[in-house]
Amino acid sequence: MTYTLTDDSPLLKPFDSGVIHTPHRVFMAPLTRLRAESDGTPTDLQTEYYRQRAGAGLIITEATQSSASAGGAYMNTPGIHNDAQQAKWAEIAEAVHNEGGQIFVQTWHVGRVAHPDLPGGDPVAPSAIAADGKAHGPNGSVPLVTPRALETNEISGIVDAFRTSARRAIDAGLDGVEIHGANGYLLHQFLGDDTNQRTDEYGGSPANRARIVIEIVKAVVDEIGADKVGIRLSPGHKANGMNESDTVPVHQELLRAIADIPLAYVHFLIEPTDPVLATLRPEITVPFLLNTGFAIESDFAQLEKLVADGTADAVIVGRWYISNPDLVERLKKGAELTEPNQATFYAPGAEGYTDYPSLETQNA
Ligand SMILES: Cc1cc2nc3c(=O)[nH]c(=O)nc-3n(C[C@H](O)[C@H](O)[C@H](O)COP(=O)(O)O)c2cc1C
Repeated sequence: MTYTLTDDSPLLKPFDSGVIHTPHRVFMAPLTRLRAESDGTPTDLQTEYYRQRAGAGLIITEATQSSASAGGAYMNTPGIHNDAQQAKWAEIAEAVHNEGGQIFVQTWHVGRVAHPDLPGGDPVAPSAIAADGKAHGPNGSVPLVTPRALETNEISGIVDAFRTSARRAIDAGLDGVEIHGANGYLLHQFLGDDTNQRTDEYGGSPANRARIVIEIVKAVVDEIGADKVGIRLSPGHKANGMNESDTVPVHQELLRAIADIPLAYVHFLIEPTDPVLATLRPEITVPFLLNTGFAIESDFAQLEKLVADGTADAVIVGRWYISNPDLVERLKKGAELTEPNQATFYAPGAEGYTDYPSLETQNA
């Protein structure tokens, strides 16, 4: 498929917010690719992958463990909680900067979708309610188990891990941090009334369910500055067994509590036609990044319109960046886009990872 962005495209206008200064508005989505070492140390292959995609303007990295016990949902996801990991992230940051790009690391805690078969994977969650689904560990696919409900006095440790991993990100030279509040992982599990049935101050009312996320935003901002912090949310997304019934009030509570903080951005994964977006959009006081989600035939004309009419300030693209390291160059020239091969999304090695050509390498 081809699509041409003309010079006057709203997607080709510069974007400036906080520390982010990019020449266009087609940023790269966080994409788990399972190419890290088994202990979460990023690899040279990852450095090359991100270097190739520096033209994305802003890269948001794959979800990355905020602590040694924050992962365990998948094998070979990276962490940013020890010196060796930080050192490799520094190499990635340098490689992206040398090519003129910027890079935020997405930090996460997977909560109840961790599995004891995987490193770091003793699942904890707001409440002892298992997700319906499977984990993919060294022994193949196994059903998810019932997590342990976090004690109230453990929550400050979770918040602190987001803070200290953000410090490591900045010390490594990464440009900023995206807090992963989406897709049914720990923070989304706290927001959801189906997954959070706590009776302490972190459960019950929308304000209570949003509390841990607000605390994490404030802690990370306090540590590294609001201009280096974004947050991803996916209101109502049914990923990882989520099925919250009051998406709007709980996300409203959260967005209102952080409205005075000049974050670099708020990022949603949501269908643009979802009425939840129209309701929540006015609550967002900072630049808004939109990933319309899971439509590979994704219509770039629609993405242009969403920025032109102010629904979003920039768009986030996932799979087209997997298979087109120079996506924006191709769109500017109307060059053929390479289709992504789903079979290698999560496979080890360079195939389907760093071997997609750019126009330059293709024509060399
Ligand atoms: C292989 C793959 C890995 C993903 N990993 C993450 C992730 O680590 N963090 C996240 O927030 N979303 C993740 N997502 C969701 C993407 O960020 C994005 O929302 C989704 O791919 C839809 O956008 P697209 O249609 O442009 O691909 C992943 C999606 C795919 C296909």
